[in-house]
Amino acid sequence: MTRLAIVTGSTRTHRRAEAVADWVLTSARKAAPEGVEVELVDLADFALPVLDEPAPAAWGIYAHEHTKRWSQAIAGFDGYVFVTPEYNHGVPGPLKNAIDYLYSEWNHKAVGFVSYGVNGGVRAVEQLRQIAAELKLADVAAQVALNSFTDFDYTDIDMTDPTVTGVFAPDERHLDDLAALLDQVTVWSRALAPVRARAAEELTAAQG
Ligand SMILES: Cc1cc2nc3c(=O)[nH]c(=O)nc-3n(C[C@H](O)[C@H](O)[C@H](O)COP(=O)(O)O)c2cc1C
Repeated sequence: MTRLAIVTGSTRTHRRAEAVADWVLTSARKAAPEGVEVELVDLADFALPVLDEPAPAAWGIYAHEHTKRWSQAIAGFDGYVFVTPEYNHGVPGPLKNAIDYLYSEWNHKAVGFVSYGVNGGVRAVEQLRQIAAELKLADVAAQVALNSFTDFDYTDIDMTDPTVTGVFAPDERHLDDLAALLDQVTVWSRALAPVRARAAEELTAAQG
């Protein structure tokens, strides 16, 4: 069984992330290739403070319970789909913070991106691809880029309300992109399994 996590990239109240991640989860469970299990990991459930670990995550020594809990939630998956908005043309702070908390949990796995924003959130994804490289997290080319205007319906909604999110109504074509993304994340997650096994063996040997 290949296990994929849909990870939400924002944590604020009135976030669009919830509706987008629900759609990704539901669609992924229908479109996922054979032998793939998909689960939601909602960053908001972890209430991670701004990174407060004494040692960098690459050391694998975690002092805090919130880090251990986050590590356990992420470690068991073979691949990830990050559902991310774009904040100020970049990665949202909560997602970058959550990524920085861990290291080996991300290594030698695959990741795909579902983004949203006025230009599809693609600038956040370009930054995430650079970050993924440092984490030995293989990023797939297929991507879902959702538009804040055309993939949300604002009919009868008070646009003067700053908390307005609209009703998420994605264009049908995004399902094809999502299916391609899931296929690529699955294939790469599986292909990297021997690399993960070798890294685990090397770690055991180093620990004596
Ligand atoms: C701090 C902040 C910065 C934002 N910057 C951008 C931006 O650079 N580009 C963009 O398309 N949308 C931007 N937006 C609008 C977001 O696309 C929109 O609020 C989206 O719903 C945010 O995702 P969330 O609701 O899941 O938090 C920004 C929103 C916030 C809160």
